[in-house]
Amino acid sequence: MTATTHHVTDADFTLADEHAMAAALRAAATGVRGANPLVGAALLDQDGQLIAVGHHRGAGTDHAEVDVLRRAEAAGATAAQIAAATMVVTLEPCNHTGRTGACTEAILAAGIRSVVHAIGDPHRAAAGGAHRLRAAGVRVRAGLLAGQARQLNRRWLAAVGTRPFVTLKVAQSLDGGIAAADGTSQWITGTDARADGHRLRALADAVLVSTGTVLADDPALTARRADGSRAARQPRRAVMGLRPVPASAAVRGDDGRFRALPTRDPAEALAGLYADGVKHVVIDGSPGLATAFARAGLVDELVVYQAPLLLGGRPAFPDLGLSTLGEAIRFVPDEAGGGAATRFGPDTRLRFVPEDAAADAAADDAADAPGAADDTVPVPDRKD
Ligand SMILES: NC(=O)c1ccc[n+]([C@@H]2O[C@H](COP(=O)([O-])OP(=O)(O)OC[C@H]3O[C@@H](n4cnc5c(N)ncnc54)[C@H](OP(=O)(O)O)[C@@H]3O)[C@@H](O)[C@H]2O)c1
Repeated sequence: MTATTHHVTDADFTLADEHAMAAALRAAATGVRGANPLVGAALLDQDGQLIAVGHHRGAGTDHAEVDVLRRAEAAGATAAQIAAATMVVTLEPCNHTGRTGACTEAILAAGIRSVVHAIGDPHRAAAGGAHRLRAAGVRVRAGLLAGQARQLNRRWLAAVGTRPFVTLKVAQSLDGGIAAADGTSQWITGTDARADGHRLRALADAVLVSTGTVLADDPALTARRADGSRAARQPRRAVMGLRPVPASAAVRGDDGRFRALPTRDPAEALAGLYADGVKHVVIDGSPGLATAFARAGLVDELVVYQAPLLLGGRPAFPDLGLSTLGEAIRFVPDEAGGGAATRFGPDTRLRFVPEDAAADAAADDAADAPGAADDTVPVPDRKD
């Protein structure tokens, strides 16, 4: 491919850079939402050909830069070819060692001399990656397809540094019921969908339910494997509501990971969780909480397991307080995490993000104009 100069922002990028960034963005979108942003990376050789594309698969796993370096090696690229490549990544490489190593060091260790990133890393602890790389003599260009990169992680960027990222998970019937009239609700969905729900729990830092659900179902809220054994990674277990959680409640467990949140205020509950170090919380269906968080605009990701039955009974979102269609709280399908709709046996998992994320796409793309190359916002601590 001929490396034609193409003016996308205030830095000069080639069409090959742009194609590589588009590939990195597509790869990023196959990751999972949660404590960390969706991030993709591509390695581009000196002729403008893609050597490899990689992405991040959630907190605690390899960052996209490390993933693409591993994939390049696995694809047979030599150390010299990798060193001569341009690293194209949707987020500024982190300069921070957490649960995984600093990406800047991985890039330098590979001998890479050219980096293109879309948007700045908003974490104070992680930010400074571009500075670190430049100080080591690496050519760093920022701002390529920044609008699309921001759009992909819009809700995460809004939450980071201030509160946990919120996933609301609901298992419901075709008519939107989450429990029968007599309160029975185990199990609306089948084993495959429930296993996926447990995978979602295992990725989260905390699972949150209401006192009402604890009193009705006495759930353990552990993350379990398909065989019923406990997953290696367990989320904290939080219960929100003014009534006390019974001393005998299974959710208390004996590992010190239980947290009572004696409030009905979603923002206050999130503040309490964030103070405990929770960066990603999964609300596990409690209808009162689902409604309150949706009304407060505090649902960043909505995951619905839709079971093929009609149940009547209790709705997933009672008392939304809306009187006309124009007031509807709207979502759009989320292609991240394996697609908006995925079958699990007879059930279907649907993923959505709030509509505002999509509505602002056009405005964000305008931010790709010259002079809008970076958007680093200093915020406290982070993540892995
Ligand atoms: N299918 C599913 O995905 C799923 C998941 C979970 C539960 N369920 C079912 O849901 C049913 C439980 O229903 P429920 O009527 O007890 O509703 P709920 O939403 O589980 O609990 C309602 C309680 O939540 C507390 N709460 C905390 N913050 C609140 C807020 N902002 N707004 C409203 N309530 C708040 C209140 O308790 P305080 O009075 O203590 O403040 C309230 O009484 C059970 O049948 C359970 O099986 C289904």
